[in-house]
Amino acid sequence: MKLSQTQLDQFDRDGYLFFPSLFNPEETASLRREVPHLYAQDRPENIREKGKDSVRTNFAAHMYSEPFARLARHPRMVEPVMQLLDDELYMHQFKINGKMAFDGDVWQWHQDYGTWLNDDQMPTPRAMNVAIFLDEVNEFNGPLQFIPGSHKLGALEAGHDISTTSYPLWTISNDNIRTLVKQGGIVAPKGPAGSMIMFHSCLVHASAPNLSPWDRVSVYLSLCAVSNHIKRFKRPGYIAHRDFTPITCLPDDCLVHPYPVDLPWKDGTPLIEQSGLQQAA
Ligand code: SIN
Ligand code: MN
Repeated sequence: MKLSQTQLDQFDRDGYLFFPSLFNPEETASLRREVPHLYAQDRPENIREKGKDSVRTNFAAHMYSEPFARLARHPRMVEPVMQLLDDELYMHQFKINGKMAFDGDVWQWHQDYGTWLNDDQMPTPRAMNVAIFLDEVNEFNGPLQFIPGSHKLGALEAGHDISTTSYPLWTISNDNIRTLVKQGGIVAPKGPAGSMIMFHSCLVHASAPNLSPWDRVSVYLSLCAVSNHIKRFKRPGYIAHRDFTPITCLPDDCLVHPYPVDLPWKDGTPLIEQSGLQQAA
């Protein structure tokens, strides 16, 4: 999939692109039906909502689940990001966010690059987020909210919030959000399961709690230019990957045909990937 000049201009202006129904129902179902099994596992990669059993986020499923290992090599996501970053890509982070009915908690206002810079020493924002909806996203189940154009400001001042939710995040102050929203407003792309959003690593975003009876499971791939790989291994390897091997794509029909994929963490996460290291290797 190649982006047109109009799409490139739109990405440059807004910091995101939305592709409704990019994956068909059969492709989406091949991923969605795996999620309950992944969330039921007792592994460090499952981070549960504060005080609840519901999974907030599952990390690195592409290392131990066949359908997600195929998604991680899907040309419909990888190729446009290669085009935008003009480099080979490696997987910096892979997560399946639950935002489960009634239990799904807030994601405070932040830029992903804030965390990648402060925690992982990623040299520049040459990395991209790709979100794929595995459930319909509507106005009630906690859609992602963006401040269009905010990616132009680079890395903004952020504070480390380790108490609001079960997952630490470098967040942006309310005063700064007020100013940014005066300039850019807020948008919340919504659509059927199978829709995809690509967004810049400096785009300011958030999502509200899910008070609805509908789950809002979405997969997020964070693809980084190989030449921009992280320099610090403070976080566990399953959160911030330390393997910078370029991704090789599978054919476009890989979600509906069982192309073979490696599952190196199928029998458990290697101990060395479960904790931070003092030094980058
Ligand atoms: C994120 O910002 O990383 C996740 C937000 C969400 O899933 O709503
Ligand atoms: Mn984020």
